[in-house]
Amino acid sequence: MGMLDGKVAIVTGAGRGIGRAEALLLAEEGAKVIVNDVGASRAGEGADASPAEQTVQDIKAAGGDSALNADDVSSWKGAASLVKQAVDTWGQLDILVNNAGILRDKMSFNMEESDWDDVIRVHLKGHFAMSHFAANHWRDRSKAGEEVSGRIVNTASEAGLFGNAGQANYGAAKAGIAAMTIILGRELGRYGVTVNAISPRARTRMTEDLFGEMAKVEEGKFDAFAPENVAPLVAFLASDAAADVNGQNFVVFGGSVWVMEGWKAAGQVSRDDRWTPKELADAKSTLFATRDPGLPPFTF
Ligand SMILES: NC(=O)c1ccc[n+]([C@@H]2O[C@H](COP(=O)([O-])OP(=O)(O)OC[C@H]3O[C@@H](n4cnc5c(N)ncnc54)[C@H](O)[C@@H]3O)[C@@H](O)[C@H]2O)c1
Repeated sequence: MGMLDGKVAIVTGAGRGIGRAEALLLAEEGAKVIVNDVGASRAGEGADASPAEQTVQDIKAAGGDSALNADDVSSWKGAASLVKQAVDTWGQLDILVNNAGILRDKMSFNMEESDWDDVIRVHLKGHFAMSHFAANHWRDRSKAGEEVSGRIVNTASEAGLFGNAGQANYGAAKAGIAAMTIILGRELGRYGVTVNAISPRARTRMTEDLFGEMAKVEEGKFDAFAPENVAPLVAFLASDAAADVNGQNFVVFGGSVWVMEGWKAAGQVSRDDRWTPKELADAKSTLFATRDPGLPPFTF
């Protein structure tokens, strides 16, 4: 018995890296999986269906059920046809794992308009477009009187939670995804749908030059940077066992899972009168007195 027996899942960007590991584990847990991937370069150029085909083949070779989709998730049309494929093939959709992504790191002063637009489009619009069509599917079923158990697992990044120089486009998209997760969780909970997000750390083509030596595999030791370490959290969040987990952001790396807390007041000055700019300048040390001076030591 798998935790996802009888479920129908879509994993976007599942031709390689984290998405591939997620698709393989969801299938191992019993889900029928649509493996989506345009097969773009790390920067989002070109198209090649072969990585996604390989994931489909590997799922089938392990005894699972899978189908291929090479649509671009960042287009309204692509997202609509991907959700439709799940419904046409297996009658419904239960799990949407939004994972597809690209990277175009540049300092703000060097960034081209297309670097900004493409990264925001693939990540932020890609997550939203897929969620929009999946939400319509679940809302229609719920309104028809069906008991729905829908799951969206989004992929944010610590770059969006903490900020990272050189990633204004990527970090803004990922922060948007983290916020959208809370918003969609609030919108869709009433239809039996939960929406959560993960911020993973794993060795993939997106990060191999970033993590370098640190992510080297050492013989006989637990490979903390393996993308396979990310997938169990996603499979859990996709399952009925996580029906009461909604609107949460997690960081996942190696054998560690953190549940994150969002913005909260960290210091305060207040009175029953308007401040002048000079008075606020004078109150600065009070305002910041209680603020935690440290962010987590490692951010990506
Ligand atoms: N690797 C990490 O440490 C790390 C850290 C934080 C966040 N992430 C996020 O995890 C996700 C997966 O990244 P990865 O490291 O496995 O990278 P990856 O490059 O190995 O995989 C991303 C996949 O998405 C596909 N893709 C790109 N644009 C697409 C589109 N428009 N439609 C469909 N598919 C598309 C690519 O073809 C590729 O196969 C991304 O959202 C990434 O931002 C990764």
